[in-house]
Amino acid sequence: MRKIVINGGRPLKGSVTISGAKNSVVALIPAIILADGIVSLDGVPDISDVDSLIDIMETMGATVKRSGDSLEIDPRGVKDMPMPFGKINSLRASYYFYGSLLGRFGQAIVGLPGGCDLGPRPIDLHLKAFEAMGATMTYEGQNMHLSTNGKRIHGAHIFMDTVSVGATINTMLAAVKAKGRTVIENAAREPEIIDVATLLNNMGAHVRGAGTEVITIEGVDKLHGTRHQVIPDRIEAGTYIALAAAVGEGIRIDNVLYEHLEGFIAKLEAMGVRMTVSEDSIFVEKQDKLKAVSVKTSPYPGFATDLQQPITPLLLKAEGTGTITDTIYEKRVGHVQELANMGADIRVLGSRISYQGPSKLNGTHVKATDLRAGAAMVIAGLMAEGQTEITNIEFILRGYSNIIEKLKDLGADIELIDGAE
Ligand code: EPZ
Repeated sequence: MRKIVINGGRPLKGSVTISGAKNSVVALIPAIILADGIVSLDGVPDISDVDSLIDIMETMGATVKRSGDSLEIDPRGVKDMPMPFGKINSLRASYYFYGSLLGRFGQAIVGLPGGCDLGPRPIDLHLKAFEAMGATMTYEGQNMHLSTNGKRIHGAHIFMDTVSVGATINTMLAAVKAKGRTVIENAAREPEIIDVATLLNNMGAHVRGAGTEVITIEGVDKLHGTRHQVIPDRIEAGTYIALAAAVGEGIRIDNVLYEHLEGFIAKLEAMGVRMTVSEDSIFVEKQDKLKAVSVKTSPYPGFATDLQQPITPLLLKAEGTGTITDTIYEKRVGHVQELANMGADIRVLGSRISYQGPSKLNGTHVKATDLRAGAAMVIAGLMAEGQTEITNIEFILRGYSNIIEKLKDLGADIELIDGAE
């Protein structure tokens, strides 16, 4: 089983360059199915989610050329066929194929794990939007069959009961080639939504209002090829900023858009983290005394749920007590027990996490319980005295490109062990 081994307690310094946004590119790649020409993406992160999506696209008939951080995708060979169940199961964001296949073919046949179980992270808002646009949903064994029964998908006025990044993007994908107008109210406002809308508009779509809570889409008949630069990954950036504040002795983080991280940076400043923000980089100085604060996540532009786990080890360095409340995923607490096993004074109390700092962390065996929890364990391992072994690291490699190399370049004593045991 592969693991990451860290000998902690060393100061890190230097610079790190942030890659393209995972939560943008997992939608941009399926969106390309809607084009009648070649689409190239630049700034694509080197993560396993991208490998999985390329695999699915090629299985469906697209041709994909990858060179460095660029992808050139020709979707014209994509066939109207059931999606390869085994592969789509590898990542949640494969649901974006529903919207783009509906938009292109008027149907999407997708395997679901164990019948129609929508799992702990439901997709009811996606399906409600597709039904409003004329798609019917039937189940054939392990497959969910979304179909407009031969008619062209049509626009609709959709109010999202919950602010949802996935449902907002998926509805845009289905709407850009629909007949007529689609209005999405109570839309999510994340930067990744703007990035997808930018790609679609550069392909010839008419999407207005992305980044606000009302998005209007006028359907068009055809979408052409284009070239697109993926926005920087604000969650990877926030992770390295927290790491720099926790164990850095002066680290510059490059390819960061400050405006994508205002809620997060405001929280770090409240702790006393000293940073210098310039146009597309942030310099984080070595920190001395830090003040404990409380964190409450909310949809963008609030404090991102994806950053509550990576900031937690830094909070543990601070003087005082605080709480962390994730209003989006209440159960996103897998890292708490792992940190407690390292000696942290942290616990889950009802629907929130409570901590007392400063906690001295000691290296031990820990596991990544999900992607961002895994990032928290890497930071904790760099902070801890002694050796930390992290297992279940596939989670981490899904969302953090070249993390071992990036940390080694900063002076970390870190290895990825391919151990057979
Ligand atoms: C996206 O997930 C991100 N993933 C998540 O990042 C991120 O945590 C989340 O948005 C934040 O909102 C990608 O972009 C690939 P949602 P998504 O729909 O779209 C509920 C990471 O670490 N909901 O915005 O799946 C849902 O249960 C990942 O990179 C419904 O009830 O999240 C949640 O409570 C983790 N019904 C809330 O809405 C639905 O149909 C927000 O979820 C859809 C969502």
